[in-house]
Amino acid sequence: MTPAATPAVHLSDLRLDRGGRTILRGINLSVQTGSITAVLGPSGSGKSTLLAALTGELPPAAGTVELFGQPVPQRSHALLEMRKGIGVLLQGNGLLTDLSVAENVALPLRAHTKLADALIRRIVDFKLNAVGLRAAAEAYPRELSGGMARRVALARALALDPPLMLYDEPLTGLDPIASGVIMSLIQRLNDTLGLTSIIVTHHVHETLPIADQALVIANGGLVFSGTPAELEGSADPLVRQFLRGEPDGPIAFDAVKRGVAA
Ligand SMILES: Nc1ncnc2c1ncn2[C@@H]1O[C@H](COP(=O)(O)OP(=O)(O)O)[C@@H](O)[C@H]1O
Ligand SMILES: [Mg+2]
Repeated sequence: MTPAATPAVHLSDLRLDRGGRTILRGINLSVQTGSITAVLGPSGSGKSTLLAALTGELPPAAGTVELFGQPVPQRSHALLEMRKGIGVLLQGNGLLTDLSVAENVALPLRAHTKLADALIRRIVDFKLNAVGLRAAAEAYPRELSGGMARRVALARALALDPPLMLYDEPLTGLDPIASGVIMSLIQRLNDTLGLTSIIVTHHVHETLPIADQALVIANGGLVFSGTPAELEGSADPLVRQFLRGEPDGPIAFDAVKRGVAA
């Protein structure tokens, strides 16, 4: 990876508004292709909002969002095409309960490709193998543990071979062992499949060990960007408050009420 390589994500002077309020402003950021970025910050700080800008779900109020050197399109057809290149793992998993594990993973392939059934079955098998769940192909979501269901959702997010993976709070609701499995899986998939991963989370200590870059969002903007080691060593009171999980300090306790106005 050379410094001149096109970044997977490039944000320039980005402002994001929601419900008539500015949630984030002045965001400048590059995510190197092949890297893992941890986006940290207190609840309500705008982490999911930032992901929504990357998927094109939320158009910028100002500034630009580029993925692999291309601006995120606003037109619906071009946007749908671009979204096939983004794998998204949301908090809720979103598995369909009436479908088997294999059928759930096949969904994006059936929706977005014209591949023959036999080939789809082989791809599904490969994706389930990648998350260590090949044996669960015929199971139904209700038969799975929380960690297994998260891995099925991960296999489904990978179905179309997206170069960019976005994870929104991938550890929510998981016990420490399942959390460890998910984090090492995210790292292994990123490295073996040559992906770029962005992990939004408030689980600092589980996420930093696998991250190349750490970002902290608070008080309506990006307050830190650097390596995990630089983050741990930061003397910034805002960063320290967040890392220690303290209620009082420069980060407003109620980010909603005291959020920066537009
Ligand atoms: N669809 C929406 N309409 C209006 N406000 C929203 C919407 N989604 C989120 N917000 C507000 O934007 C802020 C950031 O939310 P979010 O990005 O979900 O935070 P985080 O993911 O960091 O917890 C919050 O104040 C939240 O209430
Ligand atoms: Mg969120």
